[in-house]
Amino acid sequence: MTKVKSAELIFICFMLLHGFVAAFNCTSPSPESLFGALERNLFPKKLLRPVNSFSSPLNITISITVVAIVGVDEKSQSLTTLIWQVLEWNIEGLSWDDEECGTSRVSVPREKLWIPDVRIAEFMTEDTSPKTPYVYLNNTGHVFDDKPIGVISSCRLIIYTFPFDIQNCSLTFGSYLHFNSDIRMVQGTSSEEILEESLNVLETNGEWKLIGIHVNPDAQLVLSEGSYSEIKYYIVLRRQPILYVVNLLIPSCFLITVDLFSFMLPPHSVDRSSFKMTLILGYTVFLLIMNDLLPTTGETTPLINVFFCLSLALMVASLLETVLITNMQFSSMHLQAKKKLFSTSIG
Ligand SMILES: *[C@@H]1O[C@H](CO)[C@@H](O)[C@H](O)[C@H]1NC(C)=O
Ligand SMILES: *[C@@H]1O[C@H](CO)[C@@H](O)[C@H](O)[C@H]1NC(C)=O
Ligand SMILES: *[C@@H]1O[C@H](CO)[C@@H](O)[C@H](O)[C@H]1NC(C)=O
Ligand SMILES: *[C@@H]1O[C@H](CO)[C@@H](O)[C@H](O)[C@H]1NC(C)=O
Repeated sequence: MTKVKSAELIFICFMLLHGFVAAFNCTSPSPESLFGALERNLFPKKLLRPVNSFSSPLNITISITVVAIVGVDEKSQSLTTLIWQVLEWNIEGLSWDDEECGTSRVSVPREKLWIPDVRIAEFMTEDTSPKTPYVYLNNTGHVFDDKPIGVISSCRLIIYTFPFDIQNCSLTFGSYLHFNSDIRMVQGTSSEEILEESLNVLETNGEWKLIGIHVNPDAQLVLSEGSYSEIKYYIVLRRQPILYVVNLLIPSCFLITVDLFSFMLPPHSVDRSSFKMTLILGYTVFLLIMNDLLPTTGETTPLINVFFCLSLALMVASLLETVLITNMQFSSMHLQAKKKLFSTSIG
């Protein structure tokens, strides 16, 4: 019994001293020598999580940069972004002497190492971003895995105040399989740094403007089997309303103003009602043409649709009013003519 215990103890001490992989020596400061040493010591162990004991979690530091906001689709309730994702972790115990081996950092193919299965929870379609085959390995055992990911993520879009809307979409990074006892996500750069760097590199300044990034560093996904460690980023976007103001709101206001001023036309002629009819027709055609610009989603009706509906109602009401007034004037003229006829016949 004690023998087994002491053997275990010796084994644990050995593991603690040497780590997951032992420190190794190079025979000469050349790439061949270093790769030979890595091939012997590290690459055969790529199937195992690089920690000393099964019970210790592996810390994975994550940093992201938002490179492009490709678009927001109201119909499928999705956000398309391009992100640079940096994952960093340590291979326990791995180290080499940078003078003896000639370098303190090498790039190694990703498939030669154990790579964490970090994914985005809101992912909707397959990642179509270019594959980058290498990661950096440091002489302290530090792995630096930087890659671009194009992500179409689901996001609940609220378009009530369209085109002055602000959207708040989340991106949740975590391991797909490993529980938080195996993989722990750690926040790298702070949200201010991410925002600053993203604003520096953002190339497309299209319809959406990045106005904020918030981080929830210890989000947890708790399921019946166990809980997962996650990091949640909130990406806050504001729509640039100028296109919609110029193309939708201003012409619409013009048409309504014309409609209101048409009351200055002489009422007794039929001109006024046909003028108003033409305006309504024009407005309908305008709405038909501009329909593509309006967001389409069933959940809430945007205020702008209510505005268009009210504008149309106003125009129809003013047409009805004109019809009524013309009718009243016509009948009073008719009455006067009758009276005249009556008085002349009496006279
Ligand atoms: C590496 O070299 C050091 C001395 O420079 C030696 O103490 C150590 O045992 C060597 N390690 C291996 C794995 O050969
Ligand atoms: C992982 O991070 C936790 C705190 O976030 C720290 O206590 C622990 O020492 C870290 N483990 C390693 C192996 O660095
Ligand atoms: C190696 O990794 C450490 C962190 O473990 C880092 O501080 C250092 O700058 C890295 N060195 C190189 C050359 O990348
Ligand atoms: C975005 O949503 C999250 C969670 O619903 C919230 O904590 C955060 O304050 C929101 N951010 C903004 C700017 O509305």
